[in-house]
Formats: sequence, structure tokens, C-alpha cells
Amino acid sequence: MKLWGGRFTKPTSQLMDEYTASIQFDQKLAKYDIQGSLAHVEMLAKCGIIAESDATTIAKGLEAVAEKIETGEAELTEDNEDIHMNVEKLLIDEVGPVGGKLHTGRSRNDQVALDMRLYLREALVMLSQLVVDVQNALYNQAKNNLDTVLPGYTHLQRAQPVLFAHHMMAYVFMFQRDVERLVDSFKRVNKSPLGAGALAGTSFPIDRQYVADKLNFDGITENSLDSVSDRDFVVEFLSNASLISTHLSRLCEELVQWSSAEFNFIELDDEFCTGSSMMPQKKNPDVAELVRGKTGRVYGHLMGMLTTLKGLPLAYNKDMQEDKEGMFDTVETLKGALALFAPMIESMHVNKETMYQAVAKDYSNATDLADYLVGKDLPFREAHAVVGQVVLYCIQHNKYLLDLEFEEFQQFSESIDRDIYDVLAPEAVVNARDVAGGTAKQRVKEQFETADQLLQQSSNWIHEHEKKLNVN
Ligand code: ARG
Repeated sequence: MKLWGGRFTKPTSQLMDEYTASIQFDQKLAKYDIQGSLAHVEMLAKCGIIAESDATTIAKGLEAVAEKIETGEAELTEDNEDIHMNVEKLLIDEVGPVGGKLHTGRSRNDQVALDMRLYLREALVMLSQLVVDVQNALYNQAKNNLDTVLPGYTHLQRAQPVLFAHHMMAYVFMFQRDVERLVDSFKRVNKSPLGAGALAGTSFPIDRQYVADKLNFDGITENSLDSVSDRDFVVEFLSNASLISTHLSRLCEELVQWSSAEFNFIELDDEFCTGSSMMPQKKNPDVAELVRGKTGRVYGHLMGMLTTLKGLPLAYNKDMQEDKEGMFDTVETLKGALALFAPMIESMHVNKETMYQAVAKDYSNATDLADYLVGKDLPFREAHAVVGQVVLYCIQHNKYLLDLEFEEFQQFSESIDRDIYDVLAPEAVVNARDVAGGTAKQRVKEQFETADQLLQQSSNWIHEHEKKLNVN
């Protein structure tokens, strides 16, 4: 008989059991379910709702069940639908009918919301650390490439030279926003919904705050209906995860391009590439491609969750059981990607010379010739037109700006002096961008200082919460 079988006159359909069960995937929550139950039963005794001795028996029983689930000794069945009822059933098998007192003043509706939050808050700390690891790898590449110049692109056309360090730091700050979003979302996850009951609260004189404190929550949720029907924290996580995936995917695309023979700007370490079963010469950037590819499933989970919630009346509806697989899969997908990314970036070889040659053989210093003329009091728009003519001349004569003889420059403008050769050199062009946030070496060094502070802040938060939640 089912734990809830009292009002039923015949057994349920086996097809229905299989279809409605969630144990296949929510067994991932076993550890958190038992954590929550231990806090709940301790509170029940403290509030005089059940006897101290019963609570002790139940707590011991729960520990035994945890152990048996962990070792695989316990059988988790679809007959018992989900992790909550499986644990309760195993508990009753373990300690007898007294185990049935555990569910006093509680519903699976507040229980599952609690488990989800317990699971996710740990995942947020773990993922934050993994993003910080990627940031550090990018930052190290930046520090090693403070003199490496490469073409910066717009429309994937060479635009203006930048330092490779500057390019790496762009991603460091991008991922910084991701960490900040994860950290900010944590405070909305870290509230205890337990005590909301099925939807309206409970008639037992429970102490919600006590349970929240036991479980290291920062507080309790404010409204019982909202507590059991809220999955905003899942949506928020999936949304933040989607942005992280976007950022990873953009970087992946650059790595794929840069490692092609056409660019040859970087070489990814052998450890993170694969070969071809047919073409012996191949070395493929599979990791970067697969991380880019998996972005699709993360976006998919976000859309799926939003759609599931759309139109659900208050309070709990079975639809909400669909909140789990997407969340778990997103955590695992991101974890896998980030864990590979840090060492892949760290070990990436940068072809400084190829990058420099690419800058030397293009027109990405054209803006600087225009700016130079502006310095000689030509309105920018006119300077732009003059330099357009110079570039056209160069293209027609198969030359770059620095190949022009001084006399050739003079044909276009008498304001051009011999110092133009220094002005148009790649390093000079980079260092001319001496504005806050610009690519001049000095300005990139300023970014290092900011990054040092931000990375330290993130690390402090992570360590504090690893300790608080007992994770590492
Ligand atoms: N397995 C359910 C879920 O994940 C637990 C809550 C079920 N509550 C209920 N009244 N059917 O959503």
C-alpha cells in the first residue's frame, strides 16, 4: 500500500506509477532530504510536538538510511514515487511505526522546495569557484602577454591593434559579472521554506526559524503559498547559467578561430584536443566546440522551466516536478565545461610573433594617421577622408602605411612629418589608447589592479560559504 493509500479502493496503475515517479532523478537530493529531515525532527521534539526519545530514534534511523542509500544497499523504488517517500519508507522499515512521526507538520511540497534550495546553494558556491578558476587562468595569460599585440576586430575585420592581455581581461570582467550574479542570487536561494506545509502553513506549533538556523539559512520565506510554488530561484539560476554559457561559447568561438591555420594565433595543448580517425594531420579543438555546442541545452533548460511555470495557479502543482532534471543537468554541464576550461586556457600556447605579424601587415593603424592629422588641426571628418585616400593608394600599390616613403605621405597632406613612422608603429598605436579601460599597457595594468581586488572579494565570499555550508 502507498504511504498515501488510505482513501484509495484499489491499487494504482503501474504505468501511472512509472510516469509520475521522480525517484529516477530526484535521488540526487537524498543527502539534502535527510539533512532537512534531521533538522525538522529535532525541531519537532524541541517544540514538544513529538517526544524527545522518538526524535532520537528517528534521527538515528535517518542516519542509517543515509548510509544505506550512500552504499547502494537501500532499494529506491518507483512504487514509492520520489525521494521523500522513499526515505520515509526506508525509515519506517528501519525503526518501525514511530518513523511515521517524521512527517508531522510537513508536506512534500515544502520539503521538495527545501531540498532544491539546499542542493542549489551548494552548487552556487561550487560553480562560483569554477568560474573564478577560469578567470584566474585568463588573468595569468594576460599577465604573460602584456607586450603581445594582435589585431582587434569589429565585424571580424581587422580594426585596431590591442594587447592580448587586454583581450583576456575582457573575459575576466565578463566572468566577474557572472560570479557576481551567482553570489547575488544566493541570498534569494538561501531562505528556508520549511513550515509552509502543503500550502497554508501548519496547525502544529513549529519553529521555522529554528530549522532555518540549523540548516544555515539566512532566514525563512515570508508566505506559505509563495514558499511552495516559487521556483524563481531555479529560473534565475538557469538564466545566470545561460549567460555563463554564452560567455564560454563566445570564447570558444575565438579559440576555434585562433587555432585554425588561417589565424594560427594560438595552439591549444594536446591534452585538450582530439585527432581524426581518418586524417592523420588533424588536431581538433573539440573541447571548445563541445562547450559551445552544449550552450544549446542550457538555454533549453531555461526555456523549459519558464514554460513549465507559465500559467500555473497557486500553489503546488505536479508540473513543478519538472524543475529538477534541467537544473541538475545545467549544474553538471557547467561544472564539466568550467573544470576543463581553466586548465585549457592556462596551458594554451600564444603565438606572439604571428599575432604581431598580423598587425604589421594590415591597416589597423589607419585611425592613428587620422588622429595624427587631427593633432595638426584638421577636422576629424576631413582627416578620415584623407586617410581613406591613403589606404586606397596603399591597396592599389600593394603596400601598408609604414611602407610608404615620406614623399608619398606628403602627397596626401603636407602636415605629415617624419615622426609619422613612430606614431604608426603597432606598440605606439596600442599605447596611444591611454584612456581608462583602454588598451595602453598602463591602462591594462590598471585593470590588473581592479581584477586583483575583485578576485579577492569573490574568493573571500566563496571560502566563507564553503565553511558555512560545510562544502569544498
Ligand atoms: N516529487 C514531487 C516534486 O518533485 C514532490 C512533491 C510532491 N507533492 C505532491 N503533493 N504530489 O515536485
